[in-house]
Amino acid sequence: MGKDVIIACDFASAKQTFEFLDKFTGVKPFVKIGMELFYAEGPSIVREIKARGHKIFLDLKLHDIPNTVKKSMAVLSRLDVDMTNLHAAGTVNMMKAALEGLTREDGTRPMLIAVTQLTSTDQQSMEKDLWIEKPIDEVVMHYAANAKLAGLDGVVCSPLESGKVHERIGHDFVTVTPGVRFADGDVGDQKRVMTPAQAKEIGSDYIVVGRPITAAADPVAAYERCVREFVD
Ligand code: C5P
Repeated sequence: MGKDVIIACDFASAKQTFEFLDKFTGVKPFVKIGMELFYAEGPSIVREIKARGHKIFLDLKLHDIPNTVKKSMAVLSRLDVDMTNLHAAGTVNMMKAALEGLTREDGTRPMLIAVTQLTSTDQQSMEKDLWIEKPIDEVVMHYAANAKLAGLDGVVCSPLESGKVHERIGHDFVTVTPGVRFADGDVGDQKRVMTPAQAKEIGSDYIVVGRPITAAADPVAAYERCVREFVD
């Protein structure tokens, strides 16, 4: 499994996205397409970006009954994405169904990654709203273990959790980590951040980087810096 930098293309339209991607004339970075862009532009945005030669992480975080998730995953698989995700809270059965749906006739499938607890959920809201009365770190590890049990490839987690996930679940279980910032860059609204070099050190497999690249004066140079620090 290759370490890679995934650019979060958090744009509102295809036009903005292509203006951004047009800057990359040599390399074709791995890109993340989220709900905003997908719901605005539909599946054609995935096909178009794929046709330009990019790998795609489709970040739609599915969570529904197993049968619905299975059928929806089959549709995403036909879009030829390279990685997609779901909420581990949907249960082991839902995750198993998702994998079945994703698997193509020839046995290939996109990587499937689980979201454990969203970073916007804290201990207090988890207890008060969800009635889960366990330490949040344990809940995250339990959900990650469920994802492994179901046969998934890994989890989305903070770079700070990567080491622990690998230790507990295994080094072949992939960690995809957002919350990455350059040492001399703006933190923005991210609370717990790491540099690409630190994320590499701690063992993240993929880093998801948005604004440090998309809002940079020179996005290509910022991307190349991420690759130098994280991959090379
Ligand atoms: O711009 P920035 O680098 O903060 O973007 C990070 C990306 O990772 C965004 O697309 C954000 O939605 C996503 N993400 C995150 N934290 C999580 C899960 C996803 O920042 N826990």
